[in-house]
Amino acid sequence: MNLLVTGGAGFIGSNFVRKVLSKDNVKVTVLDALTYAGNKKNFSKEIWHNPNFTFVEGNILDRDLVYRIMGSQDAVVHFAAYTHIDRSIDLSDPFIDTDFKGTHVLLEAAKHTGIGRFVHISTSEVYGSAVYTPMDEEHPMRPQSPYAAAKAGADRLVYSYYTTYELPCVILRPFNNYGYNQYPEKLMPYFITNALDGKPLPIYGSGENTRDWLWVEDCVDGIIRALEVDMSLINGEVINLGTGRDFSVNYIAEGILEVLGKDRTLIERVGDRPGHVKRLITSYDKAERLLGWQPVMEFDEGLKRTVGWYVDNREWWEEIKARDEFKTFEKNWYSFLRGIL
Ligand SMILES: NC(=O)c1ccc[n+]([C@@H]2O[C@H](COP(=O)([O-])OP(=O)(O)OC[C@H]3O[C@@H](n4cnc5c(N)ncnc54)[C@H](O)[C@@H]3O)[C@@H](O)[C@H]2O)c1
Repeated sequence: MNLLVTGGAGFIGSNFVRKVLSKDNVKVTVLDALTYAGNKKNFSKEIWHNPNFTFVEGNILDRDLVYRIMGSQDAVVHFAAYTHIDRSIDLSDPFIDTDFKGTHVLLEAAKHTGIGRFVHISTSEVYGSAVYTPMDEEHPMRPQSPYAAAKAGADRLVYSYYTTYELPCVILRPFNNYGYNQYPEKLMPYFITNALDGKPLPIYGSGENTRDWLWVEDCVDGIIRALEVDMSLINGEVINLGTGRDFSVNYIAEGILEVLGKDRTLIERVGDRPGHVKRLITSYDKAERLLGWQPVMEFDEGLKRTVGWYVDNREWWEEIKARDEFKTFEKNWYSFLRGIL
């Protein structure tokens, strides 16, 4: 199978590439613009030397490039996106461009070349706060941030290509992922790396907001199942990937400090994120039924492994956190939140 992976140099994409390359008969082409969140170091030496791996640095908004690459593919897994909610509150333009318009470019190219399978990576954020639990795929979509709204638009655009043009597609909605190689501005790696440096762990609002935390390798297994199962079983379907359990930000912060043996005085209370989603928790019944998938990792064990990875890979995240781009966003965003406390 020739597989196009957009956004493969990011967090989930790179974990996916590592796993999918271990399968027989899969040739992967990663198309990634290497934005601030993309990182070539997310691929090991073995991956760079793997003859079944090709890396193309380029933008999904580049029509000519996308059409050229799509021509030789059997399937697409579409991860590429701007993904940080806080940044979408600060400046939403790149989210509308990449997440919505970029998906449109890919869909047009996929329709044109007659792709066999389009696996779209949507997100649980399209739902907004739970109005009932556990949240199934019929839960109303009430996106609460520009990121979530751009992803909701893309999610429904993919569906419209299925209904209108019979594009073979499946829309996966993973809940919050955690694990190795996550960009250190996101909650868990930000808290872990700050704690390692003796810096504060800034908790938004009450810290009682909860998410359904999905171990990234479990998520990757679900995506691989969506490539493997008979397409007629999942064509046009929306499928949630999550665990059916949720944990609060307070629980995570305390857990990280406990694993690292650090003091609770590092916890800092800051103002709440505007439009902050209160609770996300899914049922994975449909994923189990259609993909034969269930999550395996227990949260406390996954948290320990994640902390261990950041302890062992200081060089990886120190280089990112030292960038001017990182420091500028961090300074502006947290002064804003401290100002609205
Ligand atoms: N991280 C999560 O918890 C989570 C949960 C649910 C869904 N998702 C979805 O999964 C996907 C991957 O998320 P992630 O956390 O790995 O994101 P990430 O921010 O770590 O990586 C995104 C990748 O996309 C690339 N990219 C961005 N714009 C691009 C463009 N215009 N053209 C080509 N490449 C571009 C970046 O360079 C980066 O490598 C996203 O679609 C996201 O919405 C993430």
